[in-house]
Amino acid sequence: MTTKQAFGSRPRGGAGREVARAAVGAGRGSCGPTVGAGRRRARRGVGAGRRWRGPGWVGVGGWRAVGAGLGGWAKGVRMGRLDGKVALITGGARGMGKSHVRHFVAEGARVVFGDVLDDRGQYVANGLGADLCRYIHQDVTSEADWAAAVALTIETFGKLDVLVNNAGIIKFGTIAEMPLADFRSILEVNAVGCWLGMKSVIEPMTKAGGGAIVNISSIEGFTGAAGLSAYSASKFAIRGMTKAAARELGQFGIRVNSVHPGAVLTHMMIDSADSGKDGEAFMKAMPLGRFAQPVEISHLVAYLASDESSYSTGAEFLADGGILSGPGY
Ligand SMILES: NC(=O)c1ccc[n+]([C@@H]2O[C@H](COP(=O)([O-])OP(=O)(O)OC[C@H]3O[C@@H](n4cnc5c(N)ncnc54)[C@H](O)[C@@H]3O)[C@@H](O)[C@H]2O)c1
Repeated sequence: MTTKQAFGSRPRGGAGREVARAAVGAGRGSCGPTVGAGRRRARRGVGAGRRWRGPGWVGVGGWRAVGAGLGGWAKGVRMGRLDGKVALITGGARGMGKSHVRHFVAEGARVVFGDVLDDRGQYVANGLGADLCRYIHQDVTSEADWAAAVALTIETFGKLDVLVNNAGIIKFGTIAEMPLADFRSILEVNAVGCWLGMKSVIEPMTKAGGGAIVNISSIEGFTGAAGLSAYSASKFAIRGMTKAAARELGQFGIRVNSVHPGAVLTHMMIDSADSGKDGEAFMKAMPLGRFAQPVEISHLVAYLASDESSYSTGAEFLADGGILSGPGY
C-alpha cells in the first residue's frame, strides 16, 4: 500500500485523501474552527482595547476574573499566551505556516510573515487585518529579503520577540537518481534559510533583551527514509544548528528550540502522496494512527514562543503521533 492509498483508507482519524485535499484547499479548514473563532474574537477584542475570549474557546487557559465595567455580557478577560509579542514567521501563506500565523494572532501576538506565494500570503494577511498582521514577499534563501522582513517587523510593530523558521520544501529521489541541483536547493531553503533567519534576528532580539526562536525540523531530523536523503540532511541540520544557536544565544536571553512534526495534512503531505511510500506501514507504526491537523502543531509552536517555556532551550519537541516511539512491531 502506498501513502497515496493510505490517505484513502485511513482506519482512524476521519477523512481520506479527498477530505485531506478539501481541508488543505479550503485553507481555513486546515486551521480548524477553533482558530477561526479565536481570530474573530481577537479582532473584536483588539478593536475595543481589550481582548475578550468566550468560554467556548477550546484549549485556552489563564482566565482572569474581572469586575464591573465590561458590560453584562462579559464574565472574564483571558490573557493570550502571546499577548504583547511580535513574531516573524516564514512560509506563512499556506499549510502549517498559515496555521501558525492565525494561531499566533488568536493568542494575542502581532505577526509579520513571509512567503514566495504572494497572492495567498496577502489573502491570509488581509483576513487578519493590518493592525495585527502584515505579509511580505520573502524568499528565505535571500539575505536581502531577511533584512527587509526584519525591518518591516520593527517599523510596523516596534520590536521582534519571536522567530518561527517554518518555510520548507521536500523532493523525493534516491541518492542514485537525485540531481545535485535538487539536493542543493533543499539544503538551501530548509537549512540555509533557517540559519539566515537566526542570524538576522540576533541583533534586534538582543536589543530587546531576549526572544524565542522556533525552528521547524521534522521526524526526518531524527531518522532517515529512502528517497529523502536531502530532506533528511536538511532537517538534521536544523536540529544541530538549533543546539549550537542555543549555546551561543542563551547569554542574550534568546531561547532556541526545534519542533519535529510527523505527518501533518498540508500541501506538502498531499503532494508527497505520489512518492510510492508504504502508507500502510507508516500508519501501523504510528500509535495515534492518524494525520495531524496543522493547528495541532501550532499549539506546540506557540507554547515554545511564549514565556511558558522559559526554561527550555536547545531542546527537541516531537509532535509525531508517536511514530518515533518504537519500531512498529
Ligand atoms: N506536512 C508535514 O507532514 C511536515 C512534517 C514535518 C515537517 N514539516 C515541515 O513543516 C514546515 C511547513 O511545511 P508544510 O507541510 O506546511 O508545507 P507547505 O508546502 O504546505 O508550506 C510550506 C510553505 O513554505 C513556503 N516556501 C517554500 N520555499 C520558500 C522559500 N524559499 N522562501 C519562503 N517561503 C518558502 C511555501 O510557499 C509554503 O507556503 C516545513 O519546514 C516542512 O518541512 C512538514
